[in-house]
Amino acid sequence: MVAWRLKINRLHVDLAGLRLANPTVLASGILGLSAESLSNIVMGGAGAVVTKSIGLKPRRGYENPTVVQTSCGLINAMGLPNSGIREFAKEIREAKSFGVPVIVSVFGFSAEEYGAVAKKAVDAGADAMELNVSCPHVEQTGSEIGQNPATLAEVVRKVKAAVEKPVFVKLSPNVTSIAEIAEVAANAGADAITAVNTIKAMAIDPETALPILSNKTGGLSGPAIKPVAVRCVYEIYERVKLPIIGCGGITNWRDAVEFLLAGARATQIGTAIAIEGPNVFKAITRGISSYLRRKGFGSVEEIVGLSHRS
Ligand SMILES: Cc1cc2nc3c(=O)[nH]c(=O)nc-3n(C[C@H](O)[C@H](O)[C@H](O)COP(=O)(O)O)c2cc1C
Repeated sequence: MVAWRLKINRLHVDLAGLRLANPTVLASGILGLSAESLSNIVMGGAGAVVTKSIGLKPRRGYENPTVVQTSCGLINAMGLPNSGIREFAKEIREAKSFGVPVIVSVFGFSAEEYGAVAKKAVDAGADAMELNVSCPHVEQTGSEIGQNPATLAEVVRKVKAAVEKPVFVKLSPNVTSIAEIAEVAANAGADAITAVNTIKAMAIDPETALPILSNKTGGLSGPAIKPVAVRCVYEIYERVKLPIIGCGGITNWRDAVEFLLAGARATQIGTAIAIEGPNVFKAITRGISSYLRRKGFGSVEEIVGLSHRS
């Protein structure tokens, strides 16, 4: 009993006031469109879940093909399909009973829309917001906001004024300096930074001589982007004193530990679920726990940013 408690405590992390039983979190957009799919992820061992990005009104998204497999990842351009916050509120209410923090990913086409969606999500019970200011394939939202410091600051301020829950800002790696953008978000009042969303990419079919995705370009995820994402977390950690949630290509415990050492307090997992299934969260948590024990560390927090020591 005592040993079990110790094991649990070693893996606990505090994320801007959210208490997570372990540092693995579902990334937005993968199995996060319904309470039922979120429940499978919680049973798979996730310490928290982020929903699919939700907007003010329902959106169909793009025509197929919306996803293409590459040699070491996926390129997707779903077009942010979602049921709209009014309809999605019932999924949030149901997901609240699963016993882990529910972080609602929100997007909008103006600062007011981000604020309105966030307010409705909190009214439905969201424990925190994650602002999608980094989707690379929908015009006038996502990375078009996150790549513009003035607009980004306005969105963060609007959401902070609208809700009293922690606001995480999910950044795009498709910028000259992600650390500078993280600083803008921090100065505007962000409570944590999620790094990173997908990298803008495309694939062309040699037979048809045409782009494969209906949207032509999309976002690359999976193992191909991990070194880029680790570098982003490392640079943000050097510049900004906010909790960072690392994301991009995490498939196993070694990947997750790499992100923690770079400066992340928690990790998000997306594409790996398609290959490993929902139990990937348990497997990664078990691996982190063994690593901490083997190296003599008492908690996850002890290794956050450890690679920065000189
Ligand atoms: C099919 C698919 C859909 C996604 N949808 C969203 C989304 O709605 N909102 C968002 O912020 N990120 C979205 N993402 C990005 C992921 O949350 C994550 O940032 C990215 O895939 C990198 O992590 P990974 O390599 O573990 O998948 C999506 C990714 C994929 C593969």
